[in-house]
Amino acid sequence: MTDTATLRARGAAFWAGAAAGWIRHADRQDETGRPLGAAAMDRLAARPAERILDVGCGCGGTTAEIAAAVGGTGAAIGVDIDEAMVTAARRRFPTDRYPGIRFHVADIETLDVVPGAPFDAAFSRMTLMLLADPVAGCRTIRRSLRPGGRLAATVFRDSGVNPWLSAAMLGAAPHLGPLPPLPVGDEPGPFAFADPARLVRILTTAGFTAVTTTQVDVALETPDDADAVAEWLIEVGPAGAAYRTAPPAGQASARAGVARLLGRFREPGVGYRLPTGLWLVTANAAGTPTHHEPREEKIQ
Ligand SMILES: C[S@@+](CC[C@H](N)C(=O)[O-])C[C@H]1O[C@@H](n2cnc3c(N)ncnc32)[C@H](O)[C@@H]1O
Repeated sequence: MTDTATLRARGAAFWAGAAAGWIRHADRQDETGRPLGAAAMDRLAARPAERILDVGCGCGGTTAEIAAAVGGTGAAIGVDIDEAMVTAARRRFPTDRYPGIRFHVADIETLDVVPGAPFDAAFSRMTLMLLADPVAGCRTIRRSLRPGGRLAATVFRDSGVNPWLSAAMLGAAPHLGPLPPLPVGDEPGPFAFADPARLVRILTTAGFTAVTTTQVDVALETPDDADAVAEWLIEVGPAGAAYRTAPPAGQASARAGVARLLGRFREPGVGYRLPTGLWLVTANAAGTPTHHEPREEKIQ
Protein backbone atom coordinates (compact mmCIF):
# COMPACT_ATOMS: atom_id res chain seq x y z
CA MET A 1 0.00 0.00 0.00
CA THR A 2 1.17 3.53 -0.74
CA ASP A 3 1.93 5.55 2.40
CA THR A 4 -0.29 8.48 3.44
CA ALA A 5 2.32 11.18 2.75
CA THR A 6 2.73 9.95 -0.83
CA LEU A 7 -1.04 9.74 -1.33
CA ARG A 8 -1.43 13.25 0.09
CA ALA A 9 1.23 14.69 -2.22
CA ARG A 10 -0.31 12.82 -5.15
CA GLY A 11 -3.73 14.25 -4.31
CA ALA A 12 -2.50 17.84 -4.04
CA ALA A 13 -0.63 17.51 -7.35
CA PHE A 14 -3.69 15.96 -8.98
CA TRP A 15 -5.93 18.88 -7.94
CA ALA A 16 -3.35 21.44 -9.05
CA GLY A 17 -3.41 19.79 -12.49
CA ALA A 18 -7.20 19.40 -12.55
CA ALA A 19 -8.04 22.93 -11.36
CA ALA A 20 -8.03 24.59 -14.80
CA GLY A 21 -10.72 22.17 -16.01
CA TRP A 22 -12.85 22.63 -12.91
CA ILE A 23 -12.62 26.40 -13.24
CA ARG A 24 -13.46 26.31 -16.94
CA HIS A 25 -16.52 24.12 -16.34
CA ALA A 26 -17.56 25.66 -13.01
CA ASP A 27 -20.97 26.89 -14.21
CA ARG A 28 -21.78 23.55 -15.82
CA GLN A 29 -20.64 21.76 -12.66
CA ASP A 30 -23.01 23.92 -10.60
CA GLU A 31 -25.98 23.39 -12.93
CA THR A 32 -25.59 19.86 -14.31
CA GLY A 33 -23.82 18.63 -11.19
CA ARG A 34 -26.53 19.85 -8.80
CA PRO A 35 -28.01 16.33 -8.26
CA LEU A 36 -24.60 15.22 -6.95
CA GLY A 37 -25.21 17.17 -3.76
CA ALA A 38 -28.95 17.83 -3.68
CA ALA A 39 -29.77 15.06 -1.20
CA ALA A 40 -27.13 16.32 1.24
CA MET A 41 -28.19 19.93 0.74
CA ASP A 42 -31.81 18.94 1.54
CA ARG A 43 -30.71 17.02 4.62
CA LEU A 44 -28.46 19.89 5.73
CA ALA A 45 -31.50 22.18 5.69
CA ALA A 46 -29.39 25.29 6.34
CA ARG A 47 -31.28 27.90 8.35
CA PRO A 48 -30.84 31.68 8.57
CA ALA A 49 -27.98 32.77 10.86
CA GLU A 50 -26.33 29.31 10.96
CA ARG A 51 -22.56 28.89 10.50
CA ILE A 52 -21.85 26.15 7.97
CA LEU A 53 -18.67 24.59 6.60
CA ASP A 54 -18.37 23.30 3.00
CA VAL A 55 -15.51 20.78 2.74
CA GLY A 56 -13.80 20.49 -0.67
CA CYS A 57 -15.81 23.41 -1.98
CA GLY A 58 -14.10 23.51 -5.40
CA CYS A 59 -15.19 26.64 -7.29
CA GLY A 60 -17.71 27.53 -4.58
CA GLY A 61 -21.15 26.80 -6.09
CA THR A 62 -22.44 24.84 -3.11
CA THR A 63 -20.90 27.31 -0.63
CA ALA A 64 -22.85 30.08 -2.36
CA GLU A 65 -26.05 28.04 -2.13
CA ILE A 66 -25.45 27.65 1.61
CA ALA A 67 -24.57 31.37 1.95
CA ALA A 68 -27.91 32.28 0.37
CA ALA A 69 -29.72 30.06 2.88
CA VAL A 70 -27.94 31.30 6.02
CA GLY A 71 -28.14 34.96 4.97
CA GLY A 72 -26.08 37.93 6.12
CA THR A 73 -26.21 36.99 9.79
CA GLY A 74 -24.85 33.52 9.12
CA ALA A 75 -21.59 32.21 7.67
CA ALA A 76 -20.77 29.84 4.81
CA ILE A 77 -17.13 28.82 4.89
CA GLY A 78 -15.68 26.92 1.92
CA VAL A 79 -12.40 25.05 2.34
CA ASP A 80 -10.42 23.56 -0.52
CA ILE A 81 -6.87 22.35 -0.95
CA ASP A 82 -6.45 23.97 -4.34
CA GLU A 83 -5.55 27.65 -4.42
CA ALA A 84 -6.65 28.28 -8.02
CA MET A 85 -10.12 26.89 -7.34
CA VAL A 86 -10.47 28.97 -4.18
CA THR A 87 -9.41 32.08 -6.12
CA ALA A 88 -12.09 31.24 -8.70
CA ALA A 89 -14.66 30.72 -5.93
CA ARG A 90 -13.88 34.15 -4.42
CA ARG A 91 -14.23 35.77 -7.85
CA ARG A 92 -17.49 33.96 -8.66
CA PHE A 93 -19.13 34.61 -5.28
CA PRO A 94 -17.86 37.94 -3.86
CA THR A 95 -18.68 39.02 -0.32
CA ASP A 96 -20.64 42.07 -1.47
CA ARG A 97 -23.24 39.72 -2.99
CA TYR A 98 -22.82 36.90 -0.43
CA PRO A 99 -22.06 38.68 2.87
CA GLY A 100 -21.43 35.58 5.00
CA ILE A 101 -19.24 33.76 2.50
CA ARG A 102 -15.53 33.06 3.08
CA PHE A 103 -13.12 30.69 1.38
CA HIS A 104 -9.90 29.20 2.76
CA VAL A 105 -7.13 27.29 1.02
CA ALA A 106 -6.31 24.37 3.33
CA ASP A 107 -5.85 20.62 3.48
CA ILE A 108 -8.73 19.48 5.69
CA GLU A 109 -6.57 16.56 6.88
CA THR A 110 -3.83 18.68 8.42
CA LEU A 111 -5.85 21.50 10.01
CA ASP A 112 -6.54 21.43 13.73
CA VAL A 113 -9.88 23.19 13.20
CA VAL A 114 -11.20 25.17 10.24
CA PRO A 115 -10.89 28.97 10.73
CA GLY A 116 -14.27 30.29 11.87
CA ALA A 117 -15.09 27.19 13.96
CA PRO A 118 -17.27 26.16 15.73
CA PHE A 119 -19.84 25.51 13.02
CA ASP A 120 -23.44 24.40 13.37
CA ALA A 121 -23.12 22.01 10.45
CA ALA A 122 -20.80 20.73 7.73
CA PHE A 123 -21.62 19.88 4.14
CA SER A 124 -19.47 18.11 1.57
CA ARG A 125 -20.18 17.13 -2.03
CA MET A 126 -18.04 14.40 -3.60
CA THR A 127 -14.86 15.01 -1.59
CA LEU A 128 -14.57 12.71 1.45
CA MET A 129 -13.60 9.64 -0.63
CA LEU A 130 -10.68 11.58 -2.11
CA LEU A 131 -8.87 12.16 1.19
CA ALA A 132 -5.52 10.41 1.67
CA ASP A 133 -6.27 9.93 5.37
CA PRO A 134 -10.08 10.15 5.60
CA VAL A 135 -10.11 9.65 9.37
CA ALA A 136 -7.83 12.67 9.81
CA GLY A 137 -9.98 14.78 7.49
CA CYS A 138 -13.22 13.73 9.18
CA ARG A 139 -11.69 14.41 12.60
CA THR A 140 -10.96 17.98 11.54
CA ILE A 141 -14.57 18.33 10.45
CA ARG A 142 -15.84 16.88 13.74
CA ARG A 143 -13.53 19.10 15.82
CA SER A 144 -14.76 22.12 13.83
CA LEU A 145 -18.42 21.46 14.73
CA ARG A 146 -20.11 22.57 17.90
CA PRO A 147 -21.43 19.76 20.14
CA GLY A 148 -24.54 18.50 18.38
CA GLY A 149 -23.37 19.87 15.04
CA ARG A 150 -24.48 17.88 11.99
CA LEU A 151 -22.74 16.55 8.89
CA ALA A 152 -24.45 15.91 5.54
CA ALA A 153 -22.35 14.74 2.60
CA THR A 154 -22.47 12.77 -0.62
CA VAL A 155 -19.93 10.35 -2.10
CA PHE A 156 -20.03 7.97 -5.08
CA ARG A 157 -21.04 4.35 -4.64
CA ASP A 158 -19.33 1.84 -6.97
CA SER A 159 -18.26 2.21 -10.59
CA GLY A 160 -21.11 0.02 -11.90
CA VAL A 161 -23.73 2.58 -10.88
CA ASN A 162 -21.61 5.49 -12.15
CA PRO A 163 -20.67 4.28 -15.66
CA TRP A 164 -19.96 7.77 -17.02
CA LEU A 165 -16.87 8.03 -14.80
CA SER A 166 -15.25 5.01 -16.46
CA ALA A 167 -16.45 6.17 -19.89
CA ALA A 168 -14.71 9.53 -19.44
CA MET A 169 -11.44 7.74 -18.70
CA LEU A 170 -11.59 4.74 -21.04
CA GLY A 171 -12.77 6.71 -24.05
CA ALA A 172 -10.10 9.40 -23.66
CA ALA A 173 -7.06 7.45 -22.42
CA PRO A 174 -5.91 5.89 -25.72
CA HIS A 175 -5.60 9.36 -27.27
CA LEU A 176 -3.73 11.13 -24.47
CA GLY A 177 -0.37 11.05 -22.70
CA PRO A 178 0.22 9.42 -19.31
CA LEU A 179 -2.62 9.54 -16.78
CA PRO A 180 -2.39 9.54 -12.97
CA PRO A 181 -1.99 6.13 -11.28
CA LEU A 182 -5.23 4.22 -10.75
CA PRO A 183 -6.19 3.87 -7.07
CA VAL A 184 -5.55 0.45 -5.56
CA GLY A 185 -7.60 -1.00 -2.67
CA ASP A 186 -8.66 1.71 -0.21
CA GLU A 187 -6.54 4.43 -1.80
CA PRO A 188 -8.37 7.72 -2.41
CA GLY A 189 -10.45 7.79 -5.56
CA PRO A 190 -14.05 8.15 -6.71
CA PHE A 191 -15.04 4.68 -5.49
CA ALA A 192 -13.05 4.51 -2.25
CA PHE A 193 -16.30 4.71 -0.23
CA ALA A 194 -18.28 2.24 -2.32
CA ASP A 195 -18.56 0.06 0.81
CA PRO A 196 -20.84 1.93 3.24
CA ALA A 197 -19.45 -0.08 6.17
CA ARG A 198 -16.05 1.56 5.57
CA LEU A 199 -17.67 4.97 5.55
CA VAL A 200 -19.42 4.29 8.86
CA ARG A 201 -16.16 2.96 10.34
CA ILE A 202 -14.21 6.05 9.28
CA LEU A 203 -16.75 8.54 10.60
CA THR A 204 -17.16 6.63 13.86
CA THR A 205 -13.39 6.47 14.34
CA ALA A 206 -13.28 10.21 13.68
CA GLY A 207 -15.65 10.70 16.64
CA PHE A 208 -19.01 11.11 14.88
CA THR A 209 -22.15 9.46 16.21
CA ALA A 210 -25.49 8.52 14.64
CA VAL A 211 -23.81 7.83 11.28
CA THR A 212 -26.27 6.90 8.52
CA THR A 213 -25.73 6.00 4.86
CA THR A 214 -28.63 6.13 2.41
CA GLN A 215 -28.57 4.98 -1.18
CA VAL A 216 -29.46 7.79 -3.60
CA ASP A 217 -29.84 7.32 -7.36
CA VAL A 218 -29.97 10.37 -9.59
CA ALA A 219 -29.32 11.27 -13.22
CA LEU A 220 -27.15 14.10 -14.49
CA GLU A 221 -29.07 15.66 -17.35
CA THR A 222 -27.32 17.58 -20.10
CA PRO A 223 -28.28 19.11 -23.44
CA ASP A 224 -27.68 17.00 -26.56
CA ASP A 225 -24.17 18.28 -27.27
CA ALA A 226 -21.84 15.28 -27.43
CA ASP A 227 -18.65 17.30 -27.76
CA ALA A 228 -19.42 19.60 -24.83
CA VAL A 229 -20.52 16.76 -22.54
CA ALA A 230 -17.44 14.68 -23.38
CA GLU A 231 -15.12 17.62 -22.79
CA TRP A 232 -16.71 18.47 -19.45
CA LEU A 233 -16.41 14.90 -18.16
CA ILE A 234 -12.82 14.54 -19.40
CA GLU A 235 -11.72 17.84 -17.93
CA VAL A 236 -13.11 17.24 -14.45
CA GLY A 237 -11.79 13.67 -14.35
CA PRO A 238 -8.40 11.97 -14.13
CA ALA A 239 -7.66 12.53 -17.83
CA GLY A 240 -8.17 16.31 -17.57
CA ALA A 241 -4.55 17.42 -17.20
CA ALA A 242 -3.36 15.12 -20.02
CA TYR A 243 -6.22 16.37 -22.21
CA ARG A 244 -5.23 20.01 -21.82
CA THR A 245 -1.66 19.37 -22.98
CA ALA A 246 -2.67 17.11 -25.91
CA PRO A 247 -2.59 18.42 -29.49
CA PRO A 248 -5.98 19.41 -30.95
CA ALA A 249 -6.27 16.18 -32.97
CA GLY A 250 -5.67 14.11 -29.81
CA GLN A 251 -8.25 16.15 -27.93
CA ALA A 252 -10.83 15.64 -30.69
CA SER A 253 -10.19 11.87 -30.69
CA ALA A 254 -10.48 11.79 -26.91
CA ARG A 255 -13.84 13.60 -27.05
CA ALA A 256 -15.06 11.26 -29.79
CA GLY A 257 -13.93 8.20 -27.79
CA VAL A 258 -15.84 9.37 -24.72
CA ALA A 259 -18.92 10.35 -26.76
CA ARG A 260 -19.01 6.82 -28.24
CA LEU A 261 -19.05 5.24 -24.80
CA LEU A 262 -21.70 7.68 -23.57
CA GLY A 263 -23.94 6.91 -26.58
CA ARG A 264 -26.21 4.57 -24.64
CA PHE A 265 -27.16 7.41 -22.28
CA ARG A 266 -28.11 9.75 -25.12
CA GLU A 267 -31.55 10.42 -26.49
CA PRO A 268 -30.95 12.19 -29.81
CA GLY A 269 -32.45 15.66 -29.92
CA VAL A 270 -33.18 15.54 -26.17
CA GLY A 271 -29.89 15.06 -24.35
CA TYR A 272 -27.99 12.81 -21.99
CA ARG A 273 -29.16 11.23 -18.75
CA LEU A 274 -26.10 9.94 -16.92
CA PRO A 275 -27.05 7.48 -14.17
CA THR A 276 -25.30 8.27 -10.90
CA GLY A 277 -25.25 6.26 -7.67
CA LEU A 278 -24.43 8.01 -4.40
CA TRP A 279 -24.34 7.51 -0.68
CA LEU A 280 -25.96 10.26 1.32
CA VAL A 281 -24.03 10.30 4.60
CA THR A 282 -25.26 11.98 7.74
CA ALA A 283 -23.68 12.09 11.18
CA ASN A 284 -23.63 14.03 14.39
CA ALA A 285 -20.79 15.58 16.36
CA ALA A 286 -22.51 14.94 19.67
CA GLY A 287 -20.79 12.79 22.26
CA THR A 288 -17.44 12.65 23.95
CA PRO A 289 -14.52 13.53 21.68
CA THR A 290 -12.18 10.60 21.01
CA HIS A 291 -9.04 11.00 23.11
CA HIS A 292 -7.04 7.99 22.00
CA GLU A 293 -7.72 8.78 18.30
CA PRO A 294 -7.28 5.23 16.90
CA ARG A 295 -6.25 4.72 13.31
CA GLU A 296 -8.86 3.21 11.00
CA GLU A 297 -6.75 0.09 10.38
CA LYS A 298 -6.76 -0.83 14.07
CA ILE A 299 -10.49 -1.31 14.26
CA GLN A 300 -10.94 -3.25 11.03
C1 LIG B 1 -14.58 16.06 -6.83
S1 LIG B 1 -14.16 17.69 -6.38
C2 LIG B 1 -15.70 18.30 -5.77
C3 LIG B 1 -15.77 19.79 -5.72
C4 LIG B 1 -17.12 20.36 -5.28
N1 LIG B 1 -17.46 19.93 -3.93
C5 LIG B 1 -18.19 19.96 -6.26
O1 LIG B 1 -18.94 19.02 -5.95
O2 LIG B 1 -18.29 20.56 -7.33
C6 LIG B 1 -13.23 17.45 -4.89
C7 LIG B 1 -12.70 18.72 -4.28
O3 LIG B 1 -12.06 18.42 -3.06
C8 LIG B 1 -10.86 19.16 -2.96
N2 LIG B 1 -9.96 18.43 -2.06
C9 LIG B 1 -9.36 17.24 -2.29
N3 LIG B 1 -8.62 16.87 -1.23
C10 LIG B 1 -8.77 17.84 -0.30
C11 LIG B 1 -8.25 18.04 1.02
N4 LIG B 1 -7.42 17.15 1.57
N5 LIG B 1 -8.60 19.16 1.70
C12 LIG B 1 -9.43 20.06 1.13
N6 LIG B 1 -9.95 19.95 -0.11
C13 LIG B 1 -9.63 18.84 -0.82
C14 LIG B 1 -10.36 19.27 -4.39
O4 LIG B 1 -9.44 20.32 -4.59
C15 LIG B 1 -11.66 19.44 -5.16
O5 LIG B 1 -12.02 20.77 -5.31
